[in-house]
Amino acid sequence: MPLIDPRNRQIDYLRVSVTDRCNLSCVYCRPRTSMKALAHADILRYEEISRLVAVAAPLGISHVRITGGEPLVRRGIVPFIASLSDITGIEDISVTTNGVLLQEMAAGLRAAGISRLNISLDTLDPRRFSAITGSDLWSRVWQGIETAEEIGFDPIKLNMVPVRGVNDDEVVAFARLTLERTIHVRFIEFMPIGARDRWNIDACVPTGEIRRSIENVFGPLEPAGSGASAGPAQNFRVPGGQGVIGFITPISKHFCDSCRRLRLTADGKIRPCLLSDTEIDVKSPMRGGCSDAELERLLRLALEIKPERHYIAESPGGCFERTMSRIGG
Ligand code: 5AD
Repeated sequence: MPLIDPRNRQIDYLRVSVTDRCNLSCVYCRPRTSMKALAHADILRYEEISRLVAVAAPLGISHVRITGGEPLVRRGIVPFIASLSDITGIEDISVTTNGVLLQEMAAGLRAAGISRLNISLDTLDPRRFSAITGSDLWSRVWQGIETAEEIGFDPIKLNMVPVRGVNDDEVVAFARLTLERTIHVRFIEFMPIGARDRWNIDACVPTGEIRRSIENVFGPLEPAGSGASAGPAQNFRVPGGQGVIGFITPISKHFCDSCRRLRLTADGKIRPCLLSDTEIDVKSPMRGGCSDAELERLLRLALEIKPERHYIAESPGGCFERTMSRIGG
């Protein structure tokens, strides 16, 4: 029996956070202070993650995305990814990274079977990058993106979260990147998760507004292959552009009814919805010696508790226990 939830959503996509640690500390992702990294013993071992993926694959999980924290800071990540692709049924593995370590690791990732990369980048201004991330590493990230392009990752998606008054004046510059490059630039609406003190509905720049700013400069955007394979993004092109512009609208128009995802946190919880703190522990059962059948039962239980949708519109002041850095987006 495939993983189909009570609302008839078929789950085929697992996002795996392999660490909560990160070599950046972006203002919208986690608080600068008071974040203690999880202890090593509390993080799932690679064998434990592989075991869960191996149980999930025959149930229809075919796509795994590796996230963090920053996944590339975890030791042994490249061989681990290579080993995941040996699991029967896993057809697609992708990585979301901040790009800091890409220059040195891109070739290894490609050799490990990764072809699709998402890179988080919120500004094209090195000084502003330092203010947002707390590190003076913009050029390294940019070099990493260029290295990934040279090595032939396709597509390379840049994730940009416009935050009002922080970087929302750069959406046109990001859109311009798609004129000459095959890159995908994806604008993600700022969600109330992560540094929750930063979030309010006015800080979130709705997609309609981003799109208008871009169309004012480049003219009407042309549709470019949205739909199931594009995930939740609505894709467009600037007229004559090489790349793609995607909009991800969790706030202005949620896409919960077409959600195909489960998440596995670094500390071993299945999280059925990014925007709900209800989770199922799989680490303790695994360490207690549970069977694969029990793991399958827990995966199915996660479907039972997967919310119909998120409720941010109803409780815009609500906040979540976990920071984004502990979920992985
Ligand atoms: N709202 C929207 N997107 C976020 N990300 C991190 N925190 C937030 C937030 N509060 C994005 C990052 C990363 C992706 C996985 O999630 O930019 O690229």
